[in-house]
Amino acid sequence: MPWKAIGIFDSGVGGLTVLKEIIKVLPQEDTIYLGDTARVPYGTKSPETVTRYSLEIASFLVKRDIKLLVVACNTASAASLEALTERLPIPVVGVIEPGARRAVATTRTGKVGVIGTEGTIRSSAYAKAIKRLNPEVEVITRACPLFVPLAEEGWTDNEVARLTARTYLAGLREQGVDTIVLGCTHYPLLKRVIGETVGEDVRLVDSAEETARTVADILRGRDLLRPDGEQGNHHFFVTDVPAGFIRVGNRFIGGRLGDVYQVSLDAEKERP
Ligand code: DGL
Repeated sequence: MPWKAIGIFDSGVGGLTVLKEIIKVLPQEDTIYLGDTARVPYGTKSPETVTRYSLEIASFLVKRDIKLLVVACNTASAASLEALTERLPIPVVGVIEPGARRAVATTRTGKVGVIGTEGTIRSSAYAKAIKRLNPEVEVITRACPLFVPLAEEGWTDNEVARLTARTYLAGLREQGVDTIVLGCTHYPLLKRVIGETVGEDVRLVDSAEETARTVADILRGRDLLRPDGEQGNHHFFVTDVPAGFIRVGNRFIGGRLGDVYQVSLDAEKERP
């Protein structure tokens, strides 16, 4: 029996931070990644639009016979996880639930900060997930939209990044959070600057790491893990020309991406 791949998608390049963690935890697994580079960013769009895009991408990936779908975009997880879970015949893993679980396990003071795109913060998806796990935890949120272009530009350790981080994060620090969830695919690249800004006593939760563990647990539970010792292959699809994705993606994944192919999602659009 040929082993099926794990499907992963994001609005663009950011989900590669999640893919990187999945490869670390499950090096034997094949993956198929789709970055919707023609329509990025999702963070500023309405939940209805993000859900339509997410369903189109899921349809594209499911046709490639994946065994599990990872919604590696926080904004898409916040807007579309329910719609995807309802419609797909395979397990769907978003990044919000795993990040929330880790935050609740990490906080000692019961005050958690969540940072993300405008869409993610507006949805309150992290706050709801954290409260479901522990209603006592206080959640303080902050949208940090400028972190996305900074990470893509590679400006992750300069004065502009530090000033931006100070401007966004001063309030969170003053409100006494001891844990901050990096609730956007791009933010792990700014971990050092964010950490310096909020101080080393504040713990940073990376949703990507916890998501990779969740994927491993689900596949193990269903006996769908490829045997250890195999070497997984990784395929990349994008919806715009691949050049920018490859340039920024190599930095995000901390290595070299393989071949990247441009695809059209027109065939996946629902027609009346
Ligand atoms: N991938 C998005 C997220 O994690 C950030 C980029 C975007 O706005 O599309 O929310």
